[in-house]
Amino acid sequence: MSETGTAFDEALRTSAQRMEQVLGEALGAEAPLMAGTPERLLAAMRHGALDGGKRLRPFLVEASAALFGADAARAAPVAAALECIHCYSLVHDDLPAMDDDDLRRGRPTVHRAFDEATAILAGDALLTLAFGLVADAEAIDARARLSLIALLSRESGAAGMVGGQALDLEAERQALGEPEIRRMQAMKTGALIAFAAEAGAILAGAPDEDRRRLRRFGEIIGLAFQLADDLLDETADAATLGKAAGKDAARGKKTLPALHGQDWTRTELARLVAEAEALLAPYGAQAETLKATARFVAFRDR
Ligand code: IPE
Ligand code: IPE
Ligand code: MG
Ligand code: MG
Ligand code: MG
Repeated sequence: MSETGTAFDEALRTSAQRMEQVLGEALGAEAPLMAGTPERLLAAMRHGALDGGKRLRPFLVEASAALFGADAARAAPVAAALECIHCYSLVHDDLPAMDDDDLRRGRPTVHRAFDEATAILAGDALLTLAFGLVADAEAIDARARLSLIALLSRESGAAGMVGGQALDLEAERQALGEPEIRRMQAMKTGALIAFAAEAGAILAGAPDEDRRRLRRFGEIIGLAFQLADDLLDETADAATLGKAAGKDAARGKKTLPALHGQDWTRTELARLVAEAEALLAPYGAQAETLKATARFVAFRDR
C-alpha cells in the first residue's frame, strides 16, 4: 500500500470513530431530539445507524470543510445528518419491497433484526432527525444552515436519492441504455455524495465558485462510487462486503459493468478519478485528502 493510502486509511478510521461517537450521542435516549422515543423504535434506529459502515460521506463533508478552514467539530452535525439519511436509505433499500436483503454491514438488516414496519419507521425517523441536527448546528451561520437544509432536502428527496431509487426499481423491469443508467446513478448515489462535497464548502462559508467546484467533484466521485459498488457486486464476496454479492444480476438490475464489462468499468473508474483530481488542481497540495478520497471511492475493495 502506498504511503498516501496508509495515511488516508488512518484519516478515514479516525473520522469514522469520531462519527460513531457523534451519532451515538445524537441517537441517545436523552438526546435533545430523541427524548421520549419509544424504546423499540430507538433500538431499530441505532441498529441501522451505529457500529458499521465506511462513513465515507461524513468524511467527505469534513474534508471539504477543512479545505476552506472549518474544523471537524463545526462540520460534525451536518456530517451526522447526512449519514442518518444515508443509513435510512440503506434500511429502506434492503426492505422486501425493494432489494430484499438480509445482510447489511455484516449484520442482519433492520427488518430482519426487528420487523418490516419497524424498519420503515426507523428509516422515517432517521430521515426526519437529520433536518433537526442541521437546524440545531449553532456553530454554523444561520443563513448557511438554511442553505444546507434546502440542499439536503433536494438531494435526498424526489429529485435526488429517492427519485434515483424509483428509477432503479423501474429499471428492474425494462431495458435501460447507458444515459439512463448514468442518470439513475447520479440520483440514487451521486446526489448525497455531491451534497457531502458541497456541504463542506457551504458550512465553511466558501465563495460560490468553490461551492460549484466541490459540487462537481462530488458528482464525479458519486458516479465512481456507484460504479465501484456495481463492480464489487460482481467481483467481491459477502464476507468482504458485509452484504450480499451477486445480487444485481440475480435481480436483473441494470448496471454499467453488466452493460460494458469489468475491464471497461476499471478504465472508466480511472478516467473519473483523473477528472475529479484535475478539478481540484487550483487548491494544490491542500486538496490531497479529497484527491485520495476520489481514489478510495473508485478503487476500494469493500
Ligand atoms: C452503499 O453505500 C450503498 C450505495 C450507495 C452504493 P456504502 O458503500 O457507503 O455503505 P456503508 O455506509 O459503507 O455501509
Ligand atoms: C443503493 O444502491 C443506493 C441507495 C440509495 C441506498 P444499491 O442497492 O446498489 O446499494 P447496496 O448494494 O444494496 O448497498
Ligand atoms: Mg438498491
Ligand atoms: Mg441494495
Ligand atoms: Mg449495490
